[in-house]
Amino acid sequence: MNPLDQLTLDQLRERRSFKWAHYDADVIPMFVAEMDVPLAPPIREALERAIAIGDTGYPGSWPMVDEFIAFAGRRWGWEIDPRLVAPAPAVIPAYVDAFVEDTEPGDEVIITAPVYPPFTTYLRQAGRVVTEAPLTEDLRLDLAALEAAFEAATAPREGSTQRRAAGFLLCNPHNPGGTVHTRAELEAVAALAHRYDVTVVSDEIHAPLVYTGAEFVPYASVDPRGIAIQSASKAFNLAAMPAAQTIVGEERRSWLAQFRKGAHGHPTYLGTVAASVAYREGDAWLAGLLAGLEANRDTMLDLVATSLPGVTASPNPATFLAWLDFRGTAAAGGRDLGDEPATALLKEGRVALNPGTSFGGGGVGHARLNFAAPPAVLREGLARIASVVTG
Ligand SMILES: Cc1ncc(COP(=O)(O)O)c(C=O)c1O
Repeated sequence: MNPLDQLTLDQLRERRSFKWAHYDADVIPMFVAEMDVPLAPPIREALERAIAIGDTGYPGSWPMVDEFIAFAGRRWGWEIDPRLVAPAPAVIPAYVDAFVEDTEPGDEVIITAPVYPPFTTYLRQAGRVVTEAPLTEDLRLDLAALEAAFEAATAPREGSTQRRAAGFLLCNPHNPGGTVHTRAELEAVAALAHRYDVTVVSDEIHAPLVYTGAEFVPYASVDPRGIAIQSASKAFNLAAMPAAQTIVGEERRSWLAQFRKGAHGHPTYLGTVAASVAYREGDAWLAGLLAGLEANRDTMLDLVATSLPGVTASPNPATFLAWLDFRGTAAAGGRDLGDEPATALLKEGRVALNPGTSFGGGGVGHARLNFAAPPAVLREGLARIASVVTG
């Protein structure tokens, strides 16, 4: 069963979450990373049971962690020592806390732009200097750029001989565009991180959303000093009920024990209920979702190639977040949509994409499109984009 064709546009418009409530009712929302799916039935039943008896307190035990370990073993053949996993409130606070633990205010955290905008926002709020090491044009890691950034970020301050602490926030699979980093790339990152003593945190929130032909490699399985954050929230559409897991490589066992003693908040109880059931009973639903998303991805690539002159789309071997490049539209006989194509698309086409420049360097002339929509809504959204581009 394809969860993406279960809800009608009218039902979706009843939703009050950000995706469906932010714009007027004539806009097709293809921006924030919410999916247009009903909950997987076992998750819905577990939440309904909890709510029926007012079971809405604090989390008391962590079946979510054990269920995650079992899920990771089935899915990626990743054998995780339970002592290397800790519950986390959500993905963003988990990576911020990890860098706060390992660096000082004023130290640098490197990100690979274009990337999910909160990679910058919250680290800046935590007093870290965020530095971009750009991805290549085809959205892959540029190891030479990363090495230069590691070198610069760890160089001693004037008057000191002591190298500075620094961090690298990796996104795997990458948002936007869904690049799945290869084992060789991750091993190269780990080697650089060891050479410069940089703390690597890998945001793996999109890891269950990898399509046929690509292989997700967990960072903490290639780097004994790595830190990874996982969550069921993207793959099972659970952003309303935050919960996540921090997983570390084996050389960080005592680091994690220490880290857990600090006050880092905890997941919402309902988040742990939903995540536990997702990991334990969600495989069949997830298989249906992946087939539906992969079909949508192919529709998106096909329609971009055939009806959006001069636009190119990321191949998206993973995630439902495509990266569209509008810079070639004028040369292909279409309209020039300028540096921020999302502006004209919203105003004239009544279709909402994320503005490319909010993803940092490399975002000019781009926009991010969320294709986790009913197939008919996806087609309508792309038809609206086509009408603006062809003018
Ligand atoms: C790469 C990435 N990290 C983190 C998040 C948000 O995670 P959380 O809501 O658990 O903080 C998102 C949401 O789309 C994301 O795409």
